[in-house]
Amino acid sequence: MRILVLGDIHSNWVALRAIEETFDFCVFTGDLVDYGTDPLPCIDWIRRHANASVRGNHDHAVAQRVQGAGKTGYRRLAAAIRPLHWELIDTRRQKFLARLPVTTHFRVDNLSLHLVHATPRDPMDEYLNADPVAWKQRLVSVNADIVCVGHSHSQFHLNLDEIQVLNPGSVGQPRDGDPRAAYAIIENGNVSLHRIEYNIDEAVEQVRSTGVPDWVVELNKEIWTSGGHLSKEQMDEFC
Ligand SMILES: [Fe+2]
Repeated sequence: MRILVLGDIHSNWVALRAIEETFDFCVFTGDLVDYGTDPLPCIDWIRRHANASVRGNHDHAVAQRVQGAGKTGYRRLAAAIRPLHWELIDTRRQKFLARLPVTTHFRVDNLSLHLVHATPRDPMDEYLNADPVAWKQRLVSVNADIVCVGHSHSQFHLNLDEIQVLNPGSVGQPRDGDPRAAYAIIENGNVSLHRIEYNIDEAVEQVRSTGVPDWVVELNKEIWTSGGHLSKEQMDEFC
């Protein structure tokens, strides 16, 4: 069986559309929306194709109509595009985001999978990169073959004795210096990490077409083309 693992799509339909893998089962680790400006096809694709999904902090904020309060960087970008999301997303799609579970656990292809957006300690907010010691501490009470996560927008696969941690990376907003859309495949129990180029110019033009302020267009462009490798000062220059 071929399991497609996706995370952190962030309303970037051009990036999601570029992933043309065949799969028998699809897992989504949260953050469908925010940052980008094309949420509807992303939500509809996940509703149609994902067999298991969890809620990310941005899905929660959009669904619960949390006003963005960030004054700088990524937080300011999220705050700027959130009203557009509320305008575009109808009640049916809003309910879909609101009802996504915070964690889920199931068996597929003889594997026990545990899904959470951030970490089991703090399911929607804790940032944890590929730190084996820290992950072991977070997973003492989790019994699974593979824990699939997202949130950090960095792609990694850790093999920790009895348990594996898989972050497929971010489809729509990588922050590891590689601008290509990230995802993972689990096939016959084996994990592989993948990247695929997508048309960033088309994604930028989609943002521009929504009428958001120029700085939102330019900041998304810089984040997407640099793979998120912008300093805080560089990000703040756009605002
Ligand atoms: Fe995210």
